[in-house]
Amino acid sequence: MRTQLIAGNWKMHTHLSEAKTLAGKIARSPKSSSIRLILPPFPYLSACAKQIQDTDVKLGAQNLSEHRNGAYTGEVSAEMLVDLGCSYVLVGHSERRAHQHEANDLVARKALRALGAGLIPVICVGEQLEHRQTGATEQVIGAQFTAVLNMIGRDGISKSVVAYEPVWAIGTGQTASPEQAQAAHAFLRRQIANIDAKLADSVQILYGGSVKGANAKGLLSMPDIDGALVGGAALNAEEFATICAS
Ligand code: PGA
Repeated sequence: MRTQLIAGNWKMHTHLSEAKTLAGKIARSPKSSSIRLILPPFPYLSACAKQIQDTDVKLGAQNLSEHRNGAYTGEVSAEMLVDLGCSYVLVGHSERRAHQHEANDLVARKALRALGAGLIPVICVGEQLEHRQTGATEQVIGAQFTAVLNMIGRDGISKSVVAYEPVWAIGTGQTASPEQAQAAHAFLRRQIANIDAKLADSVQILYGGSVKGANAKGLLSMPDIDGALVGGAALNAEEFATICAS
């Protein structure tokens, strides 16, 4: 039985006081059987860590450097994130693929770096609308996922989380139907099963893309959906709690 994981990706939202308030509210909201994870912006990680101290809420970051250390101005290393109390980090979010031109090989190296520091990478994959419309969804997410799988191997994937986020569903209010999401999740799980069938049963695969309180139950009740990566709705503690309770 896989534990559900509900992750809140705050993106480049909130100010310091808002971030503290939000983290505090989430920390105080009723515990759920799912793992709760918040992913605040880099500068607020420390402040949020204080707010969730001694609770079950986990802390993660939205990005990391592929390098361990060195002359990389403006970059943040995996070890720095660990120092701040992070246990998870996103890699390959579609916004970074689109705006920072992160390609599959860089995403794979970042996942490996995260694992090297003891962080759990949340490996994001997802197709664009044109891919779905032309029937190329599996080809696209398969290539994104295989690049990481080849780099981190069986052991790496056993310590990772996967997130399927169709790009056309992110921030658009247009979520994938539970059946569309389930099909993609089952496909991703089969890619893991090709390496190790038993392992495929244990890896958490999250769905992301316009998840909110009103649609979470339908998505989370699908057999291969093990949680959600939530953007907009994660900025509201009550809404986030509703998703966690789904
Ligand atoms: P959204 O974002 O929930 O606002 O669609 C999800 C994400 O980008 O992780």
